Amino acid sequence: MSFPIVRNRRLRHTAALRSLVRETVLTADDFIYPIFVTYGMNVKEEISSMPGVYHFSMDRLEEEIRRVTASGVKAVLLFGVPEHKDAEGTSAYDPNGIVQEATRAVKNWAPELLVIADTCLCQFTDHGHCGVVRVHESGAASVDNDASLELLVKTAVSQAEAGADVIAPSNMMDGFVYAIRAGLDEAGFEHIPILSYSVKYSSAFYGPFREAAHSAPQFGDRKTYQMDPANIREAMREAESDVAEGADMLMVKPGLAYLDVLRALKENFDLPVAVYNVSAEYSMVKAAAANGWIDEQGIVLELLTGMKRAGADLIITYHAVDAANWLAGK
Ligand code: PBG
Repeated sequence: MSFPIVRNRRLRHTAALRSLVRETVLTADDFIYPIFVTYGMNVKEEISSMPGVYHFSMDRLEEEIRRVTASGVKAVLLFGVPEHKDAEGTSAYDPNGIVQEATRAVKNWAPELLVIADTCLCQFTDHGHCGVVRVHESGAASVDNDASLELLVKTAVSQAEAGADVIAPSNMMDGFVYAIRAGLDEAGFEHIPILSYSVKYSSAFYGPFREAAHSAPQFGDRKTYQMDPANIREAMREAESDVAEGADMLMVKPGLAYLDVLRALKENFDLPVAVYNVSAEYSMVKAAAANGWIDEQGIVLELLTGMKRAGADLIITYHAVDAANWLAGK
């Protein structure tokens, strides 16, 4: 026998062979596309730190929804920029709030398109935190876990009432999955699944999103509820408690710097696992592409393939529509 004994290159010889043995294949079915909705008329305004991503007013939303469905993407994640913010985030659970209105409109235009509602308070609170802030006698302020749960349950139920197909709580309070499950069941929404942002790190990668959603905390940071990027065993505890509380799907967020965590969740739990390819991951690619430093399509498809290979069953990404079009050769 001649040398080398093993010739791995044999299976790379032609495109047909390579596709025959390909282990990971991206499809439009994998993607969830986030959309930002705002008040006003005739608004389609590019978010400066996220080229290609826009704020849409309700009257311009339909064209974007048509673009999504034409690409083959089957799910959107809706974020709203409210007109009014207050300490308790009341616009988050207003039956006529911006996310609720947008949900109704989208389900009307495209009944087959899955609408996922992000359940959090930070876009709706004047202090920008994901829950209710309590100021202690010492003057120190903290986010009150259990008081926040009540408002998050109201938010989730109002989103389901508006027609949301999936509730995705991103607030990182303890017990939120159980509280929301119980609230949904009580309101007759026992069939609505919860996609829990189970493992959400306190990350610098959310910067452009906070600009887009006007949701930066006005004091302090989110480190008392979002996770320390250094920890992975803690991620297992977060996922375990969500499973015990009735989550239907788990999520790891952000993606790129946390693929080991994604893999660990996939190996240790049998629920579908989502990854959120967050705003700064998107913006970095767009900036480099705008400078002509990288091949955008090649980089994006490679990154998304890497996330799927690492274990993602679903990928939330601002690249979703472009990627779906590229995959279809458009
Ligand atoms: C709301 C929320 C955030 C993101 C999704 N939902 C921001 C945050 O936690 O500060 C970030 C998404 C992104 O960066 O693309 N809590």
